[in-house]
Amino acid sequence: MGNKFYITTPLYYVNASPHIGHSYTTIAADTLSRYLRKVIGEDKVWFLTGTDEHGQKIQRAADEAKLNPQDFADKTSLQFKSLWKALDISYNDFIRTTEERHIKTVQKVLAILYKKGDIYEGKYVGLYCTPCETFWLESQAIGGVCPDCKRPVDKITETNYFFKLTKYQDWLVKYIEAPANSKFILPAMRHNEVLSFLKLNKLTDLCISRPKERLNWGIPLPFAPSHVTYVWFDALINYISAVGEFDAKDKYHSKWWPADLHLIGKDILRQHAVYWPIILQALGIEQPKTIFAHGWWMINQDKMSKSKGNVINPVDMVNKFGLDVYRYFILRDVPFGLDGNFSPDAIIKRFNGDLANDLGNLVYRTLTMVEKYYAGNIPPLDIYGLKLNEREELIKKSIQGLQQAVYAPLSSDFDFSLALEKIWELINMANKYVEETKPWNLAKEKKDAELKIFIRLLVEVIRKVSVELGAFMPQTAALINEQIGNDSIKKGAPLFPRIC
Ligand code: ME8
Ligand code: MG
Repeated sequence: MGNKFYITTPLYYVNASPHIGHSYTTIAADTLSRYLRKVIGEDKVWFLTGTDEHGQKIQRAADEAKLNPQDFADKTSLQFKSLWKALDISYNDFIRTTEERHIKTVQKVLAILYKKGDIYEGKYVGLYCTPCETFWLESQAIGGVCPDCKRPVDKITETNYFFKLTKYQDWLVKYIEAPANSKFILPAMRHNEVLSFLKLNKLTDLCISRPKERLNWGIPLPFAPSHVTYVWFDALINYISAVGEFDAKDKYHSKWWPADLHLIGKDILRQHAVYWPIILQALGIEQPKTIFAHGWWMINQDKMSKSKGNVINPVDMVNKFGLDVYRYFILRDVPFGLDGNFSPDAIIKRFNGDLANDLGNLVYRTLTMVEKYYAGNIPPLDIYGLKLNEREELIKKSIQGLQQAVYAPLSSDFDFSLALEKIWELINMANKYVEETKPWNLAKEKKDAELKIFIRLLVEVIRKVSVELGAFMPQTAALINEQIGNDSIKKGAPLFPRIC
């Protein structure tokens, strides 16, 4: 990992009701940002999120709400801002695609590519799914319906502007295949998916405009005011419009670019791993380091959607279980990259096991012993300078190795689940140590030195756990720090009282 980290989430459609899927990407990005701020420095991390506000879908939603699209977007983008507040998301910047800084950059990009001949005028004949704003091939729209949403597609012929994806296909394949770029698309199955797609299919140039008579709500093309920009072409550019500018010679400058990580869901892999790299290459801008596509959260093995009425609001889960419990669950329960099934029962299982039995119990029993044996004062002892027995030595080594054990999976594969598992290995080791040491016997037999080492090691384990857990569960880490001070404790209620 370098000496700066620029991380992004997708821009969420401003008309959506925020659900657990949106919160997933954002909590993952938040956790990594918090973790890296501690490792490489507060001012070395830039975390960008925002809202996608143009296009047919937004226009329609605004019409339904009887608002003009700008007023509609002003209102609904606040929904996302307040959700991120409720989830304590530490973003550095929130970009809206209707902001001046973004519009200016999109128009600059269009002008550069048009001048270069990578954007040209042509006729579009095709099948179009309006709700999804996607063109489909005959072979894809089987039965005349959109393969995604199953609604009927429309046949359209119109003058439009096209971006020359075809010109860059060979370049992209080589780029993705280069051994130096093995982390360009992660996880590996997504890398393979994009490569085989590119090898089996000849790309067609991307239609990047919409005629104004069909859609008015978008960024006007600088060379053809009769047309607005296709919402995907517009939205992807946010990643550079938020953090830099083009100079008079069309060269892009940014303190943060290239992005170190574009975090996305697997549903928008094509746009990010094919269209976006080609746009950047055509502009002569460096590629992002990694595009990571995570899996889907399903409800009873089914996709979540407004129309199915099975959308879960993250705020409901937070109100029910607590913010940190929710954050822990979604990062721990499913390896990052795979699909997961969301259910309150699965949360309760993690709660009673990992949180109540393991972490909560370790903290509570340790505080109880400090209270009972040392009147609440942590025995002053430098366990790092002491001669320890074999088992104690093992725990000491695990404390000293924890940061590396957590950082390694996070930084190499963005594996949040494995990082948490490493923290729990130490927690479980400490709980086992309590059960096998039987401290009540040490106390009875007046084995003072041993008891002190024992308590002190547990305190060190908890301190270390709380440091490493801080990015994942900020409130819990703060609570633990309140309860275990520098030299005395302030015992509170158990952190996670079991849910029956
Ligand atoms: O696609 N499980 O926006 P969007 C996991 N505006 N993640 C999910 C999910 C689920 N069930 N549902 C959604 C767009 N997501 C475009 C992006 S980027 C320049 C433009 C997450 O509001 C996932 O990250 O449909 C997905 O990629 C993102 O929400 C898209 O949200
Ligand atoms: Mg979507």
